[in-house]
Amino acid sequence: MRVLITGSSGQIGTNLGLRLLADGHEVFGVDKRRNGWTNEFPTLLQDLAGHYPAFPGGIGGVEYEQVDLVVHLAAHAKVHQLVREPHRALENAIMTFNVLEYARQLGLPLVFSSTREVYGDVHRFEEYAEEAADFAYTESPYSASKITSEAFIYSYARCYGLDYLVFRFSNVYGRFDNDLWRMERVLPLFMHQLSRGEPITIFGGEDKVLDFTFVDDCVDGIARGVYALGEGRVANETINLAYGQGNTLVRAAELIAAELAVEPRVTIAPSLLGEVTHYVADVRKARQLLGWEPRTPLDDGIPRAVSWFREWRAAHPEENRPFERPRSAREIEHGFKQPAGAGA
Ligand SMILES: NC(=O)c1ccc[n+]([C@@H]2O[C@H](COP(=O)([O-])OP(=O)(O)OC[C@H]3O[C@@H](n4cnc5c(N)ncnc54)[C@H](O)[C@@H]3O)[C@@H](O)[C@H]2O)c1
Repeated sequence: MRVLITGSSGQIGTNLGLRLLADGHEVFGVDKRRNGWTNEFPTLLQDLAGHYPAFPGGIGGVEYEQVDLVVHLAAHAKVHQLVREPHRALENAIMTFNVLEYARQLGLPLVFSSTREVYGDVHRFEEYAEEAADFAYTESPYSASKITSEAFIYSYARCYGLDYLVFRFSNVYGRFDNDLWRMERVLPLFMHQLSRGEPITIFGGEDKVLDFTFVDDCVDGIARGVYALGEGRVANETINLAYGQGNTLVRAAELIAAELAVEPRVTIAPSLLGEVTHYVADVRKARQLLGWEPRTPLDDGIPRAVSWFREWRAAHPEENRPFERPRSAREIEHGFKQPAGAGA
């Protein structure tokens, strides 16, 4: 198959692109940043959040390679950052709209990356099945952007016959995710701080439970979805893709500390605004529809993730410096701290 991946320079996009290549397919990436991890597939540099007039061939009138299917991953993917900069959530919706228009004009099937955030922080269920999403509980602008994107997709299926799969991910970790200065993620951040002997802060309390997904499990599910949708075996389904087991963030931190052979110094702090504090996915649908099976529980995933982190850090010793939290999406995109006084 020939597959177009938006957001292909990101964590999931890079892992997915390499997986599809390894399976013998062609991959074309679109992202507004170059890929800092691999150059094994081409990346068209384009901002997908523009207000483009009707476009033939590719978004914004740019001729894309001919493809059989689109995987739309591009987004501002940080919950708390979008609480501070809600217009970035609107950009997420515009990106999805542009990708949908492109898919509609060329009659292409679409795989979309949604999130467990669409369930809100309701603490009503032991496990969250797909139909449990209730949009009265929209927790943050980020979840609003994913709910909006899902709604657009379902409307395109009804009105224009779009074939789609929507996947809802949860805390994907494990490889190509430690570009902390662009995209602060909790597990790579803990690896960074603990490996430097620094204290860590756990926001959301000792009983904050999340469903951590090793990246190869996530990517295996997406790849199975790409093939099933491309071959017309499965279409128009919304599917949780996580490990299907809850773990406290405290436990995740302890596993990382044990792997790094350090004694963790932990501060517990209140939850950040907009964040989900309890989520365990019901993954039966992914099993049934895609024959997918998650293989990497947190106890196995953390050692693999730490091992990858160590290798990367050994090759990039310049990254062993104190972490400064990016303040804006601009800093996240460019991976640098802006000088004081510069506009956001
Ligand atoms: N990683 C997770 O734990 C997780 C969980 C739930 C959902 N998701 C969703 O999965 C998708 C992929 O996530 P990821 O972890 O790889 O994120 P990521 O930030 O690593 O990758 C997203 C990519 O989108 C690109 N992008 C952002 N704005 C763009 C624009 N205007 N034009 C073109 N490209 C743009 C970024 O440059 C980045 O490379 C995202 O939509 C995210 O919301 C991820």
